[in-house]
Amino acid sequence: MTGAELRKSFIEFFADRGHSIVPSASVVPWDDPTLLFTNAGMNQFKDVFLGKSTREYVRAVDFQKCIRAGGKHNDLEDVGRSPIHQTFFEMLGNWSFGDYYKEEAITWAWELLTERLKLPAERLWVTVFREDDEAELLWQRHTGVPADRILRFDEKDNFWEMGETGPCGPNSEIHYDLGPERIGRNEDPGHVGGANGDQALEDPARLVEIWNLVFIQYDRGADGALTPLPSRHVDTGMGFERMLTILQGVDSNYETDVFRPLMDHIGELSQHAYAEGNTDVAYRVVADHIRALAFAITDGALPSNEGRGYVLRRILRRAARFGRNLGLSDPFLYRLVPTLIEEMGAAYPELPATQDKVEQVVKSEEESFGRTLDHGIELFEDIVEQAGAEGRNEIRGEEAFKLYDTYGFPVDLTQLMAEEKDMTVDMAGFEAEMGQQRERSTKARVTAGMPSVTADLKVENPTRFLGYDTLAVEDADVVTAEGGSVVLTKTPFYAESGGQVGDTGWLETESGDRIAVLDTTRDGVAIIHHCDPESASDLKPGMTVTVRVDGARRQSIMRNHTATHLLHAVLRETLGAHVEQRGSVVAPDRLRFDFSHFSAVTPEELNAIERRVNELVWENIGVEPFETDLEDAKRQGAMALFTEKYEDRVRVVRIGEMSLELCGGTHLGATGEIGLFRLVRESGIAAGVRRVEALTGAGAYEAVKRDEGLVAGTAEALKSEPEDLVKRAGDLTARVRELERHIRELSTDSARNWIDDMIGGAVDADGVAVAAGRVDCPDIDTLRAMGDTLRERLSGAAVGVLFASFEERPVCIVVVTDGAISGRGLHAGKLARDVAAFIGGGGGGKAHMAQAGGKDASRIDEAVEQAPGVVEQHLRDA
Ligand code: SER
Repeated sequence: MTGAELRKSFIEFFADRGHSIVPSASVVPWDDPTLLFTNAGMNQFKDVFLGKSTREYVRAVDFQKCIRAGGKHNDLEDVGRSPIHQTFFEMLGNWSFGDYYKEEAITWAWELLTERLKLPAERLWVTVFREDDEAELLWQRHTGVPADRILRFDEKDNFWEMGETGPCGPNSEIHYDLGPERIGRNEDPGHVGGANGDQALEDPARLVEIWNLVFIQYDRGADGALTPLPSRHVDTGMGFERMLTILQGVDSNYETDVFRPLMDHIGELSQHAYAEGNTDVAYRVVADHIRALAFAITDGALPSNEGRGYVLRRILRRAARFGRNLGLSDPFLYRLVPTLIEEMGAAYPELPATQDKVEQVVKSEEESFGRTLDHGIELFEDIVEQAGAEGRNEIRGEEAFKLYDTYGFPVDLTQLMAEEKDMTVDMAGFEAEMGQQRERSTKARVTAGMPSVTADLKVENPTRFLGYDTLAVEDADVVTAEGGSVVLTKTPFYAESGGQVGDTGWLETESGDRIAVLDTTRDGVAIIHHCDPESASDLKPGMTVTVRVDGARRQSIMRNHTATHLLHAVLRETLGAHVEQRGSVVAPDRLRFDFSHFSAVTPEELNAIERRVNELVWENIGVEPFETDLEDAKRQGAMALFTEKYEDRVRVVRIGEMSLELCGGTHLGATGEIGLFRLVRESGIAAGVRRVEALTGAGAYEAVKRDEGLVAGTAEALKSEPEDLVKRAGDLTARVRELERHIRELSTDSARNWIDDMIGGAVDADGVAVAAGRVDCPDIDTLRAMGDTLRERLSGAAVGVLFASFEERPVCIVVVTDGAISGRGLHAGKLARDVAAFIGGGGGGKAHMAQAGGKDASRIDEAVEQAPGVVEQHLRDA
């Protein structure tokens, strides 16, 4: 049975039993901040289990792409060493949402395994939770599994939890006995790993867990407490690749048909064959990791230095590092992507759709890591050597930290490399260094002026925000006012969020005091107006104030915010749908937008983008914000910042047909108010992330005027009209070049006289005439031209040595005539090297002419004097 057939069989079995077929969710759980990656089929149903949302169906079946790396379920370090662990794997699952429960789940699992997939019943073992009599009874009553093959275990093995918090419950696992031949001894598997209920049923060599049936009943809270859920649910997960291993009768997941093409391709690229106990680990690491990378990048994650991006970066580096064990040091992972897509593209059509992006991201990460790795390995070798010299076999925390901080070595990579040298890493020391670094960066943030006075406000009622509709409110009451941080019952002030900066303005008291608001931020439900503590010291809770936003500034902010949405839409239209927002700043004087894209945006593209945004401004399209629920917004195709966690009710901003984005910011009524849009800068800020900066309205106009002023000023300085400026500048440059050439000719002419003098004063060195001297000349080109002339004018066997200095740096040209080369075995390059030694330098060149540079111009005279001696020495050695 192939992988495709197994997926089909599983889905059909449960579809026949009333289950709706649901597509796999993204492997990056954008709307669940408690998870780095989708780690189980049930993740997408979390809210249904918790009773927070419902679906149109009560039974579901699917195959789900999962990654277990980082977080609660983390298999990263096992991958490679284990034949049955992967970071990326597929999970086949069936679910009941408050519908059927243990009986059907158990009966159907047995039926599917033994009848549909034809697994021999005598190979199956079952485990249940310590207290779950009901499950044990159901197994006995409804299936053919003998009583002595139903084992009970504790929480560790038979109570499944999604993460630190969330839905959970007792589970029942089905294990498959691969048989004694696998471990080479005839042992009763019931006793392998302890059958008495006091140990886990595990011997990966012989018994493999293939299917987990979870009976979801509780919600684990942040405080660790279990709260019973309103309904009981079923959540099952079958390890797809493990099941294939069994069905295909192979020894490891990596030998099944879903892995075969990748493993073969690695073999083709590698200089090492697959060998058990040797290269097998590297093959498996590479094959697994490229799958995890490709799926995660397809779903929008990118390698970075934080959170899930950092896990991806570690996965990539681990794969690249293991690739070196296979002789693969140039980027190679990205080459595996087409093979992967060929195998998996039919089941996951999103993969082929993003092939280019995946290849580009992986390749550029590999390139940047390659550079780091080479340097880091050198440092690592030094560290090992140093440790050896000191007689220790532990790498110090600070050494591991330096590798991490300077060369981006994940510490597990250092551990791995240390292990290969029979060494360990002082992890406590490493963690201490990391802690110090975190402290340093927190301090740096505070001193950089980030608002930090938000603690302990104890505000219970949310501040009412009125700033979408008005810029002034006359009857706001003070809730708290401490240390310049003022919270009111209501306010038109926008608190910094979603890239849009906070408003500034004034609070006016009834007695006529006017207090400047310098910034606005949010802390939980409270909007905080930051004022100078002294000027706000008379404000007391209960006082009524009038609040006024600085309207002109806010208008500029709104221009930039609406323009940011247009820019986002136009970037996607122009560069492609891989463009995703990575960050933004919307300030009164500028906007900045960071997005994913893999090469610099060309000047032509920038022009096209700027023009298109301006066209949308001229069309004066209405901007319509509205509220809806998150699901509806997603259905309508609204763009969201995937790193944000959204509430169920969301605000969406529509700009005609052009843009639809989830956004809580403040916007113009229509695009025409932007006035004018100018892109002013494009740059790269990280691998695969570009940044553009732009101006709008008055800012854009001022920038145009400034450029105009520059042009006018330059024209005046060059005595030209602005429209003739380009031609004029070209003419002038050509003229300067001509004059420079002329000066060189004149200098060469005057140098000829020197040359005559030098030839006249040539010294005999064992039958070779040596003409040496110092000349004045404007540049190196002229000096070389003089060398040519000198060589032409020398006759017979002769050597010329010319010195000059440019900005205190001595330079020397040595020429040797043909007669001295063929007749006497002299070589200008070799002479130059020795002559230059006098001026503190070195050089080289051809037999007839060579150049050398030095450091010490004060020794030129000495070098001139020594030149004949050097020639004599060379004649002796020749
Ligand atoms: N959630 C359970 C698991 O991941 C069953 O799907 O094992």
